[in-house]
Amino acid sequence: MRFKMSSVSEKSIVPSRLLSCLIVFSLFLLISSLLSLSEFGDNSLIPKSVVQLIVMNSTSVSLEPNAKGNIPKSPVKSPVFKRKEDVANKEVASQHRQKTCDKHNAVLRVYMYDLPPEFHFGLLGWKGGVNQTWPNVSERNRIPSYPGGLNLQHSAEYWLTLDLLASDVRNVVRPCSAIRVHNSSEADVIFVPFFSSLSYNRHSRIQGREKVSVDRLLQERLVEFLNGRKEWKRSGGRDHLIVAHHPNSMLVAREKLGSAMFVLADFGRYSTEIANVEKDVIAPYKHMVRTVAVADSASFDERPMLVYFQGAIYRKDGGMIRQDLYYLLKDEKDVHFAFGSVQANGISQAARGMSSSKFCLNIAGDTPSSNRLFDAIATQCVPVIISDEIELPFEDVLDYSEFCVFVRASDAVKKGYLLNLLRGIKKEKWMKKWERLKAIGGHFEYQYPSKPNDAVDMIWQTVSRKKTSTRLNVHRKNRYLGLQLS
Ligand SMILES: *[C@@H]1O[C@H](CO)[C@@H](O)[C@H](O)[C@H]1NC(C)=O
Ligand SMILES: *[C@@H]1O[C@H](CO)[C@@H](O)[C@H](O)[C@H]1NC(C)=O
Ligand SMILES: *[C@@H]1O[C@H](CO)[C@@H](O)[C@H](O)[C@H]1NC(C)=O
Ligand SMILES: *[C@@H]1O[C@H](CO)[C@@H](O)[C@H](O)[C@H]1NC(C)=O
Repeated sequence: MRFKMSSVSEKSIVPSRLLSCLIVFSLFLLISSLLSLSEFGDNSLIPKSVVQLIVMNSTSVSLEPNAKGNIPKSPVKSPVFKRKEDVANKEVASQHRQKTCDKHNAVLRVYMYDLPPEFHFGLLGWKGGVNQTWPNVSERNRIPSYPGGLNLQHSAEYWLTLDLLASDVRNVVRPCSAIRVHNSSEADVIFVPFFSSLSYNRHSRIQGREKVSVDRLLQERLVEFLNGRKEWKRSGGRDHLIVAHHPNSMLVAREKLGSAMFVLADFGRYSTEIANVEKDVIAPYKHMVRTVAVADSASFDERPMLVYFQGAIYRKDGGMIRQDLYYLLKDEKDVHFAFGSVQANGISQAARGMSSSKFCLNIAGDTPSSNRLFDAIATQCVPVIISDEIELPFEDVLDYSEFCVFVRASDAVKKGYLLNLLRGIKKEKWMKKWERLKAIGGHFEYQYPSKPNDAVDMIWQTVSRKKTSTRLNVHRKNRYLGLQLS
């Protein structure tokens, strides 16, 4: 305003006076009309709520970049979610520079047990000060790192825990879907911070003079701990969230803690009573190959290879199909089909192979899921899913048929079927899936700090969508408890 006035005054003084009078007058008009609008309330043409939003509510300013306030709420219930979620790939961090999240706006309030470090960061070799349970997460480069290599596939436990810790740190900018509360009565869900996958990967073998493995010991102690907690007794564990992403993690404790919600890779090694799609959350693997930036992603014509598969060979159960497909595809010249698990040094080679292929096969192995699907998404290679029992992360809000091709195992092994199908998917149709892959890739990224609609944020949102059914189950269990107490 001031800038405009002075530039006018350079030309002549009289018009500038006139102008300032006009401005003062119009401001007066504006303010008085706004005031009268809010007084008229229901009688006015503009709904009162709109006026309140403009005039009275400072929170509404938060939609402006750089303003202090909350990020727009996670689009959890909105039916337009399918498209809105695409913001995950854009850099939205600059739009929410808020210092703290308002717990009344969070979609999920999480209470986290202060388990001793040997259950979590102690497994990473972290040693805190006396009585220190958690590392200080305010400086990114001082956070204990998770072991690399294949361990990382199952590191969801680590990213979720870090995000809850960050919820208490003012200088970390993160989405506000989930917020940590320190009073369990205020919580929607109780988080159990046990790094069960790392415990399995690192400590499931008996070492030295141990009678039982560290992994088993920790699980037994966890069961004992939980059974003694008022939070567990209150809900029978139904509102507890336990991360057991590695298919072999929590082997000892899973039945005893089966009433809790699990965060899993799939249900392959669980009975349906212990784990099922109603109660539990499927989380992505952390992909092994580096993400290809959307701008660098090769398009249809820039991908000379039709089909890519690299993986271990399995000769039992659902894994038989890999061998069958190998004999069907091995002589095709635009197909890369090779056995051998992707070791650390082979990862960049796999990344190159996948990002120059149109389709990447995701074939059932010894478990229905594998990180290969997430490698394909990270390289925008259209996944071809040949795994009848697979469970997919966030499928209640994502339609995988938009960016994947599903083939029944019984069809895939018919001679000529698979290649006919894939060769029949022409450029235009493929490009549609590719565009969708670029849009949804961000949902499968684990990172610290978490970003809106990334893997961590999506897991919290999924848990929050289960809140109602969890509460229903808790209340059903409580039906007759009230009588006993009174
Ligand atoms: C205004 O903001 C408060 C929180 O600061 C909120 O409770 C209220 O619902 C908001 N009112 C409107 C009209 O948005
Ligand atoms: C650690 O905790 C114990 C038990 O609560 C307490 O007695 C002790 O003073 C604490 N030590 C320090 C250094 O805070
Ligand atoms: C965590 O580290 C930051 C930066 O080094 C420091 O300012 C803060 O006081 C630390 N917090 C705690 C609880 O020690
Ligand atoms: C925790 O929250 C409950 C319910 O809001 C309240 O009654 C209780 O006093 C709180 N406890 C503490 C220690 O603040």
